[in-house]
Amino acid sequence: MTANPTDPIGLDGFEFVEFVSPDPQAMKAHFEKMGFVASHTRPDGGVVRMKQGDISFLINTSDEPNAVAFREAHGPSAAGMAFRVKNAAEAYDLAVQRGARPAEAPQNALGDYPYVLQGIGGSLLYLVDQFGGESLYDGWTEAPGWAEAEAKNQVGLTLLDHLTHNVRKGQMRTWSGFYGDVFGFEEQKYFDIKGKATGLFSQAMVAPDGMIRIPLNESQDEQSQIEEFLRRYNGEGIQHIALHTDNIFETVEEMKRRGIDFQDTIETYFDLIDKRLPGHGEDVERMRANRILIDGSDQDGLLLQIFTQDTFGPIFFEIIQRKGNQAFGEGNFQALFDSIELDQIRRGVVKVDA
Ligand SMILES: [Fe+2]
Repeated sequence: MTANPTDPIGLDGFEFVEFVSPDPQAMKAHFEKMGFVASHTRPDGGVVRMKQGDISFLINTSDEPNAVAFREAHGPSAAGMAFRVKNAAEAYDLAVQRGARPAEAPQNALGDYPYVLQGIGGSLLYLVDQFGGESLYDGWTEAPGWAEAEAKNQVGLTLLDHLTHNVRKGQMRTWSGFYGDVFGFEEQKYFDIKGKATGLFSQAMVAPDGMIRIPLNESQDEQSQIEEFLRRYNGEGIQHIALHTDNIFETVEEMKRRGIDFQDTIETYFDLIDKRLPGHGEDVERMRANRILIDGSDQDGLLLQIFTQDTFGPIFFEIIQRKGNQAFGEGNFQALFDSIELDQIRRGVVKVDA
């Protein structure tokens, strides 16, 4: 392989996220509620693949070292993720040459799969070149009728849009450097998000394929939501996983019918949408009813998004529909701040000069 200087590793999107849990049945049931079905089981029964659209989540119930370490250290958690590459063996060698470290134990969710690196917080970073038609799960036991079951159970989630990492104070550069130096990710935007009392730095890393996107959040202080995550999770790791839908209203309405809990948003947020994004063309009342957020601009296009409540420990999910906008909804931080202030003004808590 001749390394392409702008895409040295030959990346091609996310293949899966690997999860572990002390209660894997509850985790599986939750994924089913989110529209996934069990499609394949590893021959020894130690890993089950949950599938919807182009998204795969592996639940690892085995006693392999990484799975055990993650269950013990973090409880329900994300123990690994896989990048699709053009050639796994070559990508692995090149990644190690460029500074990535090989995983320590030979066992992992794919068996004794050799092309695995050390990722965030001790998780595994798999490089895989079999997907789509040439399936990575071909040797696994197929659940009878899974395709029909998926068609029946799906809620419209199509692909893994992005996932974030929460990192300790001072570690932003470590991780942006890792993804930049090893894989050629570029820094998309840098945000210094300040609430009234707490704050965080956010830096979105985007792979050369444009499909693997990893925003990094670094805590600025001891009380921030990032710090709280690090304490609850007992370390750095994947904070939220964003799943794309082509119709966020239908997806979210169905998920709510099934009892998935989403984060609420202050009423005044919806009163300010038309002023913030004139001519957006979306159904504000349906957004208000579902608590769906909007961000973007005339130039960059729009995105619609909503976040679930914490789902596995402090890990949660985002449902996102992109309408041209390739960012991550950062404008909503300020919008939510302004909405709370407007609410305070309406309640007379905050006075403004007439
Ligand atoms: Fe996100």
